[in-house]
Amino acid sequence: MALSLFSSSPPTIRERCRSDAATKLRLKYAPYYHAMSAQSGPNIRLDGRDLIMLASNDYLGLSFHPKVIEAASAAPRQWGTSTTGARTANGSRACHLELEARLAAFLGREACHVHSAGYLSCLSGVAAFAQKGDVIFADKNIHSCLWDGIRLSTATVERFSHNSPEDFRAVAATAAADTPKMLVIEGVYSMEGHIARLPGLMAVAREHRCFTVLDDAHGFGVLGRGGRGTVDHFNLNADVDLVCGSLSKSLASTGGFVAGSRDLIEYLRTHGKQTIFSAALSPGQTAAASAALEVMQTEPEHLERLWRNTKKYTAMLHALGLDTWESETPAVPIVLGSKERAYRFWQALLAQGVFTVMSISPAVPAGKDLIRTAISALHTDEHLARIGDAMAAALKKI
Ligand SMILES: Cc1ncc(COP(=O)(O)O)c(C=O)c1O
Repeated sequence: MALSLFSSSPPTIRERCRSDAATKLRLKYAPYYHAMSAQSGPNIRLDGRDLIMLASNDYLGLSFHPKVIEAASAAPRQWGTSTTGARTANGSRACHLELEARLAAFLGREACHVHSAGYLSCLSGVAAFAQKGDVIFADKNIHSCLWDGIRLSTATVERFSHNSPEDFRAVAATAAADTPKMLVIEGVYSMEGHIARLPGLMAVAREHRCFTVLDDAHGFGVLGRGGRGTVDHFNLNADVDLVCGSLSKSLASTGGFVAGSRDLIEYLRTHGKQTIFSAALSPGQTAAASAALEVMQTEPEHLERLWRNTKKYTAMLHALGLDTWESETPAVPIVLGSKERAYRFWQALLAQGVFTVMSISPAVPAGKDLIRTAISALHTDEHLARIGDAMAAALKKI
């Protein structure tokens, strides 16, 4: 029995989990955790059917690049499959230092530290630097990892309207002048595909002497010269103290990074709990990210193809009358406006052979329930045509 009708005591944790409505709904409608039986680039096999993957963040399509695959398989032969410990405990490997030096140089930063997840990098980029008594200004729509970092820091948090330098200015004006301040934003917002209005935000940050942390998980590899990211896109490297991000999107690996000045990265290595107490990025993942970074720099055609595909895809969605929330990047939401419509559209796309992911409130603001799609350089014109037909058919089902 879940809850006793005759007892006023609160449910135990076991009872609460067993009777959780959200889990029951998820299991009933099964929109997440699908298991593919085969994959080749954006072609996947699910439940015996061939589908097009439109939900991955393989922006540059490097996860099937021969050089990246070769590097990922060669590294464990040299270093083993895992370092089986934190770098503070049993040391770094040459491949970590090589990746960090490459990333730092690419981003025009003095230093970089890599972690086993982008989630850890972004969380620790906030939690290690802010502390009780500080005030953090945060865009309302930042990723969950940044909110976790804010909570762990125990600093006071003040939210401002999404991507609004005007509201940031109004909120910042209420903070005491002598309080240490941090600004936490994303370069490209993962759900919305919006590019941060960085020039306006940085003008306010400068006035209030904010330490700025920018999560560029979706801007890295996509924006800026050769994919150097959002800060490079606006030429504002000097204004942003820390750029953090993920290796699991354009870099076709798993893991994350924090890049900044040498003294900040050494501070992170002294104070970042996730840096000190968590095992190192595995050698295979490290080598895959290094190889992908090299491919990014030597084969610009992937970035060119990504943008060509993105423009073609968004034009096609607009021609169908779909609402893309003014996305400016390859992360393209399709806003359906209610949970029911989003679910029906997602299901109809699946039936038509296109795999997407549904994101509903409270993960997105109320009324913005959506299907989140992402374009890859590996999508062909034939894929895009099939996706267009599927979208047109799915529209008739909602
Ligand atoms: C904006 C943003 N930051 C951080 C992360 C976490 O990255 P990872 O998946 O590498 O842990 C994600 C992943 O979805 C993201 O979208």
